[in-house]
Amino acid sequence: MRHSVYIWLLLAFSCRSASEPVPEVQRTVLADQAVVVSSRPEASEAGLAVLKKGGNAIDAAVTVHFCLAVVYPYAGNLGGGGFMVIRNAEGEAVTLDFREKAPAGAFRDMYLDESGEVVPGLSSRGHLAVGVPGSVAGMWEAHQKYGKLPWKDLVQPAIDLARNGYEVSQHQAFWLNNKREDFLELNKAPTLFAKDSLWQEGEILVQEDLAKSLERIRDRGREGFYQGETADLIVAEMQRDSGIISHQDLIEYMPVWREPVRGSYKNYDIIAMGPPSSGGVCLLQMLEMVEPYPLKKWGFQSMRTVHTMAEAEKRAFADRSEHLGDPDFWPVPVAGLLDSAYADTRMQDFKLNGPATSSDSINPGQPAPLESEETSHYSILDKDGNAVSITTTLNGPYGSKVVVQGAGFLLNNEMDDFSAKPGVPNIYGLIGKEANAVHPGKRMLSSMTPTIIEKDGKLLMVIGTPGGSTIITSVFQCFLNVVEFGMTMEESIGHLRFHHQWLPPQLQMEVDCFDTLLRDSLRSIGHELKERGAIGRVNGILIRPDGKKEGVGDWRRDDVARGY
Ligand code: DON
Repeated sequence: MRHSVYIWLLLAFSCRSASEPVPEVQRTVLADQAVVVSSRPEASEAGLAVLKKGGNAIDAAVTVHFCLAVVYPYAGNLGGGGFMVIRNAEGEAVTLDFREKAPAGAFRDMYLDESGEVVPGLSSRGHLAVGVPGSVAGMWEAHQKYGKLPWKDLVQPAIDLARNGYEVSQHQAFWLNNKREDFLELNKAPTLFAKDSLWQEGEILVQEDLAKSLERIRDRGREGFYQGETADLIVAEMQRDSGIISHQDLIEYMPVWREPVRGSYKNYDIIAMGPPSSGGVCLLQMLEMVEPYPLKKWGFQSMRTVHTMAEAEKRAFADRSEHLGDPDFWPVPVAGLLDSAYADTRMQDFKLNGPATSSDSINPGQPAPLESEETSHYSILDKDGNAVSITTTLNGPYGSKVVVQGAGFLLNNEMDDFSAKPGVPNIYGLIGKEANAVHPGKRMLSSMTPTIIEKDGKLLMVIGTPGGSTIITSVFQCFLNVVEFGMTMEESIGHLRFHHQWLPPQLQMEVDCFDTLLRDSLRSIGHELKERGAIGRVNGILIRPDGKKEGVGDWRRDDVARGY
């Protein structure tokens, strides 16, 4: 254990930029009964307290979600959305889609100028970037169906944190200061997040307006957000600038229960989020494409392993650009994409000894048009064995940067996840076409990949991460690290990661991820390498062979696991 913590710290310091700190905290837990892993210690601890009081995993998720909205404004939210994958103790699985939607006033070319060009920043900054939030409705819906403890008790810890304040971490001070100019530019009134002086680690952030918004949610449930004072404040904020969300949009917002997408890799069964997230479909495609190859024999991050995984990633992302979108608006050929014969045809032009297939010569494939029966991530397991995997987001850091005046919370910039114009990349460099064009009431395509994995019918892993397009490839790697390379969850998450998303045609990697020899080998077969900052921040739970529950928060930020 001490050895692995040492490796982590070494990795941490070797791959951060000089400016972004890595605090030393306990991020891992080995528990007998229950685990919560989230992006902030306060949220993990509040979730754990719910579990200890007899709440189930859904109850804990509600508390964690609302606490993150207070102590993790970077991505935790009231004004965002997400996806939830649930597997209960009996092994039944469902997913809840509480993704944001385009407002009724949205239209296909809303982010283009008169000459048909994308207006930079229009879909990602400020009021017009905001989709109709889904988080509060999602939490309410999940609790109505599965919750055990009273709603009010589950929301209260977040109210206390907002009213009494919490200590801003090193990371948070860094990021709040980093986005200060955006907060000042995009808000008409002063906001708490850009105060007179720069943020310092350890300062207390008190959010009284947010505490009041949370009280309305505590007292009236979803109506306390989508109607009444909070709804009035959201609509007033929209009208202060170019926003288009109306009272009607808010009232009509409903989350959707959807069938999970399922697939297998060897003797592991994967339960994942289907469209409008691309996460589950792309993850399963990648796994199918690499399954025939002896990754274990080749070894972790060996030249052939990395090459094979990167080539599978390219092909899955090419398919994503053409075929994935909101299934309520576009016939996503899920079954065709997941057909194993289709995976074989996708890899037909793959050359194990190189050269790498150029992204130019990879096109989206033609799956059979079969009908089929998708940021902050938290993973929760309760003592009875109910598991919840939730990824939620405002999209970019602090979303649109717009704070709802008088309500104290940030609004998302999720509209940027639509394809503003075919072939023009979004903030994650992802491109899309008709399947993901803007349409009123439509959900924008996501990469979020909350996932639950079974082995021989028993729960094995609860996993997910933020990270835009790198979400899918981070989950892909962390899963393979455990099942092919025999790692613990701590080792799996601790290792540096790589990522290929077809376009741009680059094999991206965290700083120091590959040694010189491997870099040279990959370049020699045609991979263009690009170093970049952190790839994903994975939060996972692994049920070890001895029954212990290993919960791990990623060292790349403030994520921590708690359990008992
Ligand atoms: O839904 C998506 O794919 C993105 N909006 C996720 C954004 C994200 O992960 C930001 N975190 N770093």
